[in-house]
Amino acid sequence: MAWSPDPEPSTARPTLETERLVLRGWQMDDAPAALSIYGQAAVARWLSPAMDLVPDLAAMRLLLQHWIAEADRMPPPAGRWAIQRREDGLVVGGAILLPLPPGNEDFEIGWQLRPDHWGQGYASETTHALARWAFSHDIDEIFAVVRPGNTRAAATVRRNGMQWVGETGKYFGLTLQVFRLRPADLDQAVRGSLLPERPREAEID
Ligand SMILES: CC(C)(COP(=O)(O)OP(=O)(O)OC[C@H]1O[C@@H](n2cnc3c(N)ncnc32)[C@H](O)[C@@H]1OP(=O)(O)O)[C@@H](O)C(=O)NCCC(=O)NCCS
Repeated sequence: MAWSPDPEPSTARPTLETERLVLRGWQMDDAPAALSIYGQAAVARWLSPAMDLVPDLAAMRLLLQHWIAEADRMPPPAGRWAIQRREDGLVVGGAILLPLPPGNEDFEIGWQLRPDHWGQGYASETTHALARWAFSHDIDEIFAVVRPGNTRAAATVRRNGMQWVGETGKYFGLTLQVFRLRPADLDQAVRGSLLPERPREAEID
């Protein structure tokens, strides 16, 4: 079913908790941590829509300001989250759930992790939390759009039960590989993994 925006966007910030992570809205004092993610070529080069490497703290602050203001206007389940580790509070990445232009009917899930925190299952844990949250709204599928050659992202989507749809040029003017996740795929992936079945959900002001 296609998602359509609520007439009255909610300003509630969904905070999702998993076994090891808290997914929460970005804050201005995240700028140094965010720069350690979006200031890395190893991260920025794979993003779609294409995003320039963030060059410095001032540019990161401007971008965060924009994301925070945008989040206030976005109806759920759309959002941008900082991925924070519970054990020490370190922000290890960011994640998105955003309508895919031009139609804005499909939802894109995406992750950006600090390269020194790849290989620990944080993107997979995030996928489960965001997908469960998305499916608790009026949508029954979400998509990942992966640039050809992004083998880590392709492994992540397959690890989480996402199904190959095909290659397309219809998003962002880029050639992208499209993968789809439906609730049944997610259930199957949960059964085959050590990941928690359901994230805890909290609403904060
Ligand atoms: C794509 C990206 C998010 C993937 O990160 P990742 O850490 O490899 O992803 P996952 O969460 O799926 O982690 C899987 C790895 O963690 C390991 N792992 C460790 N503990 C784990 C756990 N508890 N659960 C699951 N996997 C675990 C897995 O064995 C696997 O290791 P491997 O890579 O050696 O095979 C990351 O590479 C990234 O940020 N890239 C740049 C931005 C980008 O490409 N974004 C995607 C655009 S579509």
